[in-house]
Amino acid sequence: MHQLFVHMPHMSSPTPFWNRRRFLRTVFCSSAALGLNIRSESLAAADAEDLHWLALGDFGSQEPAQTAVAKGMQAYAAKLKLKPSALLLLGDNFYKPMPGGLKSPRWQTGFEDMYPKSSFDCPCPVVLGNHDYHDNKGGEQVQLAYAKTPGTRWTLPNKWHRMDFPAAKPLVTMLFIDTNNTKISGGVNPKTKEPRGHLSEAEQEEQLAWLKAELAKPRAPFTIIVGHHPVYSNGVHGDSKTLVEGIGPLLQTHGVHAYLCGHDHDMQHLELEGLKTSFILSGGGGARVRELPNKDRHMPFGQPVYGFTHLQANAERLVFRHVDANGKQIHAFEKRLDGSFSVLG
Ligand SMILES: [Fe+2]
Repeated sequence: MHQLFVHMPHMSSPTPFWNRRRFLRTVFCSSAALGLNIRSESLAAADAEDLHWLALGDFGSQEPAQTAVAKGMQAYAAKLKLKPSALLLLGDNFYKPMPGGLKSPRWQTGFEDMYPKSSFDCPCPVVLGNHDYHDNKGGEQVQLAYAKTPGTRWTLPNKWHRMDFPAAKPLVTMLFIDTNNTKISGGVNPKTKEPRGHLSEAEQEEQLAWLKAELAKPRAPFTIIVGHHPVYSNGVHGDSKTLVEGIGPLLQTHGVHAYLCGHDHDMQHLELEGLKTSFILSGGGGARVRELPNKDRHMPFGQPVYGFTHLQANAERLVFRHVDANGKQIHAFEKRLDGSFSVLG
């Protein structure tokens, strides 16, 4: 169990934090997720009015780990009787060649059946990862086209898009962005020597203008930006200088509560002194996890673990929970409207 602490973005050091109700709730949530003999229906009842989302990144590996995490997430959702508002797909949705494109059987095996409607009867908003561009030439266009399939939950109306939850009187605005800019995803494929796919210069300009416009518009009380590449990361890929410089100032100026991403194959929660935004990385969806070379920087949390993330929201707070493939909560924190946060466990 991590030490509990509360942090205000403008304060210089964490301050001890303890609250009996929150403590009981935290212990209860942990125990329920662990599969112990505790009344999971109480958690569902207590939080039934809240909104819930599940999220995972770097999942499209076709390896046994992808199935293990998918099954674990199904069991977790069933145990807590979750009715997610959305299943957030954080990119690298399909690794390796995908012959047939739109007609590939992997749409059924790697998405529709892997994350079935019976468990996740909700939209599945998508962001594109580097492997979605690189492993299949034009793969990003295939993923955009699949979103037009009648009846699918795959939600990708554009490379960047906005969703408000719920649509009427929204509590959370999510802005989904494509982080495959020239610096991050450009260059040459080392095997084929062909140029790698990425956003065009015009798309990059258009997306940035869109992001600025959306942040300037009326938004829900909470705002989350979702992309594939991390702004800050303690994992093998490290920080993305281009995102730190490109969207970092926007996160701060507009008081964005959280930036949610994948790309590194691990689970992280980073907090940077003076920044209003919490940085959550959920990259344990199925690709081989990797040790973090910078374990202690900007912690509260970083582990090379297969798993997914459960987000819960009400009018007062967001709660992010990292959960492993066995349904065990490995980290949790709450983020409040004013930008402050508390690690819960
Ligand atoms: Fe990636």
